[in-house]
Amino acid sequence: MKKIVINGNRPLKGEITISGAKNSVVALIPAAILADSPVILEGVPDISDVDSLKEILEIMGAKVEHVGETMMIDPTEVQSIPMPHGKINSLRASYYFMGALLGKFGEAVVGLPGGCNLGPRPIDLHVKGFAALGADVRNEYGAMYLRAGEEGLKANHIFMDNVSVGATINIMLAAVKAKGRTVIENAAREPEIIDVATLLNNMGAVVRGAGTDEIRIDGVEELHGTRHSVVPDRIEAGTYLAMAAALGEGVVVKNVIYEHLESFIAKLQEMGVEMTIREDSIEVFPSHDLKMVNIKTYPYPGFATDLQQPITPLLLKAHGTGELIDTIYEKRINHVPELARMGANIQVEGNMIVMKGPNELTGAEVVASDLRAGACLVTAGLMAKGTTTIFNVEFILRGYDHIIDKLTGLGADIRLVEEDEKN
Ligand code: UD1
Repeated sequence: MKKIVINGNRPLKGEITISGAKNSVVALIPAAILADSPVILEGVPDISDVDSLKEILEIMGAKVEHVGETMMIDPTEVQSIPMPHGKINSLRASYYFMGALLGKFGEAVVGLPGGCNLGPRPIDLHVKGFAALGADVRNEYGAMYLRAGEEGLKANHIFMDNVSVGATINIMLAAVKAKGRTVIENAAREPEIIDVATLLNNMGAVVRGAGTDEIRIDGVEELHGTRHSVVPDRIEAGTYLAMAAALGEGVVVKNVIYEHLESFIAKLQEMGVEMTIREDSIEVFPSHDLKMVNIKTYPYPGFATDLQQPITPLLLKAHGTGELIDTIYEKRINHVPELARMGANIQVEGNMIVMKGPNELTGAEVVASDLRAGACLVTAGLMAKGTTTIFNVEFILRGYDHIIDKLTGLGADIRLVEEDEKN
């Protein structure tokens, strides 16, 4: 077990490059098994979720070569091996193997997903989608058993009760080889959905409308290998933009698609953060007298729930009282007591987080309860006077590529050490 130790209150300066998107790559990797020849992914982030998916692919019989940012997946020998438990349960995104295996083989046994604890995270919309395509879906002993009818999956018109990234992608994966035209209405519109649709289309699929709330998929018989570059991680970018706004003395965040971050950047601008937005980078200048703002999270293109926790330490620096409401995950509040431990005036009131600033944070021993709460605590630790020690950092390493190196490169005093090591 490891911990992160930060000696805070040091300015950040320089350049930082954003990696490929975690939420995209965790879908692209399972999507690759739908092909009948090798798929090459470029811009693959070095995160533990990718390592876990690689292990799962290998259990299924795929050949995987992962060198630097490039991953070659040869799915020719893949079989739909039942995976009711084990590695498959270690990350939430392993649910994409349900759609991918069902789409390829017409059957799958996949253990129910683990991942970050953000309160209840049902998969009823995924199940409804698979059933609408004619699959028999049973939940037994903690695993999903899926089987298409005799003639394989059949296209259908599916209206999603709720906007879900995972269910939209999973239904796409299952439907690309189904007979006929599938229409997904009230689909999620996240950039990661467009990224998955782009890979599938380059593999020979016919997916139209990704990025809008109606996706149309004309089933094809075969999919082939291709080469694809993973979209930049907008959540990683937002996390570093917030850090740069809180502590930066001139930080350039590179490999950013501004359009994917518009709602987030609008909030930074409302706070008074000074930035120059260029074609694929954003420069953040030192900001003073930041103004508190209210934030409500929504599905894309609204303010991302995944950026709610990473922006909170910056809000704590601002003047005034602010409210934060997460309409996607009401229970995404585990960072609040940890920030309070660091001296922040922050509390949960009903369904909202209420903050009063400005606050001067002080270092403390804190625990990361999930990935984005962990990113929030890293930012808070960088801002705090004194030493902050963060435990449960495995969550952070699941989704942030080389976070220690990237921050050290900006001048932060941050180390990853064994838990029993003295600070
Ligand atoms: C994805 C992201 C996660 C992000 C979330 C919301 C990945 C791997 N993870 O998670 O980082 O926080 O989108 O942007 O891409 N819901 C149901 N039934 C379902 C599925 C979802 O009720 O079958 C609800 C959820 O409880 C939640 C909302 O729909 O309130 C959105 O969830 P969803 O978009 O599905 O999240 P994930 O795909 O799991």
